[in-house]
Amino acid sequence: ADFAIGLHDFSAATGQYVLTHETLAAENGADVAKYHKGIGQRSMSVPAVDEDIVTMAAAAAAPVVARHGADQIRTVLFATESSIDQAKAAGIYVHSLLGLPAGARVVELKQACYSGTAALQFALGLVHRDRSEQVLVIASDVSKYERGTPGEATQGAAAVAMLVSAEPALMRIENPSGMFTADIMDFWRPNYRTTALVDGQESISAYLQAVEGAWKDYTERGGRSLDEFTAFCYHQPFTKMAYKAHRHLLDHCGYDVDDGEITRAIGQTTGYNAVIGNSYTASVYLALASLLDNADDLTDRTVGFLSYGSGSVAEFFAGTVVPGYRSHLRTDMHREAIDRRQEIGYAKYREIHDHSFPVDGGNHPVPRETTGPYRLAGIAGHKRLYEQR
Ligand code: CAA
Repeated sequence: ADFAIGLHDFSAATGQYVLTHETLAAENGADVAKYHKGIGQRSMSVPAVDEDIVTMAAAAAAPVVARHGADQIRTVLFATESSIDQAKAAGIYVHSLLGLPAGARVVELKQACYSGTAALQFALGLVHRDRSEQVLVIASDVSKYERGTPGEATQGAAAVAMLVSAEPALMRIENPSGMFTADIMDFWRPNYRTTALVDGQESISAYLQAVEGAWKDYTERGGRSLDEFTAFCYHQPFTKMAYKAHRHLLDHCGYDVDDGEITRAIGQTTGYNAVIGNSYTASVYLALASLLDNADDLTDRTVGFLSYGSGSVAEFFAGTVVPGYRSHLRTDMHREAIDRRQEIGYAKYREIHDHSFPVDGGNHPVPRETTGPYRLAGIAGHKRLYEQR
């Protein structure tokens, strides 16, 4: 296209509660340094029982629609790996809660933590076809592992909403992309389970293999060289993973690996994920939010993205920050979403973690807990009922 396409607006939301890793360590006897230093995590968002991927997504997207209106939104792409229905797209509930136009298509995408990037890339293609259209891309997830497993410390929850348009106000997304797919069982969740299964160490090496593969494809397609990037947003299942991945990439490319250099390229991308935990599809974009909200002026700087979804698919691509971007950020809103969370103890966390709705098709109102803008009011006749709070 002879016009730029990319991120025009960006907004993030998370859950009602927060569990600190001090609390988790006090309960399970782990050395808290394993969490703080070993995996780089401080706390995890825990959604209230009347919150889910839909309520967080609507909370993230509402300010975007309030700012830009919905008239040009012709497509809503909802990426998630913690879906609430095997048939109906979660985005339709968001479409309804936000009063989006009937003349819009809505669909849900899945490929573990990668599908937010698939949604973004598909959105670029749609705007390329008709530059008058905007696409609302949502990535929303609640990450849940069984209690007492190594994955428990990497749980979290968040949603991001991104408005993709021509002549974007925040960031131009560039061609080419580098892609990598491999059939591997490092992390998965069969339909009959509410918690994910994971081969932890296998998943780390699968991620590193995928970084190498996506980068190889990116360079073969004429991508930028490593030193053209100011920062790198990696998928962050835990923030230490971004450091592992960047170290691996530098090493693979024959660079002398320097800790100061890695910290410079990664440090400002980890602030939100370190306190929110793994938000799966949203994680790599929370890394971007943390960077844009907290770094000095990034005008005309290029950022590298490495999106990884177990199973596995990875993609590397570049985005360049647009002049004037700072006046469009939602830094205060993002900090407020993190700071307003109520800290809970282990007992409350356990109650929420182990809670499941009866599957009898009866009428089950949900207790009022969230102070966010949208809530799950109940489940009746196997239907989820949402409301504005
Ligand atoms: N002080 C400081 N550091 C300590 C420590 C202490 N007391 N004790 C341990 N550590 C360090 C360890 O050395 C290790 O660091 P390195 O890897 O740099 O050596 C780190 O803390 C973690 O320790 P372990 O490897 O022993 O931890 P673990 O095996 O109990 O769990 C995990 C780690 C496997 C990542 C686990 O959290 C897990 O299963 N997580 C879920 C899966 C996951 O996130 N995989 C990531 C790649 S897959 C992906 O990205 C998709 C996705 O979103 C899931």
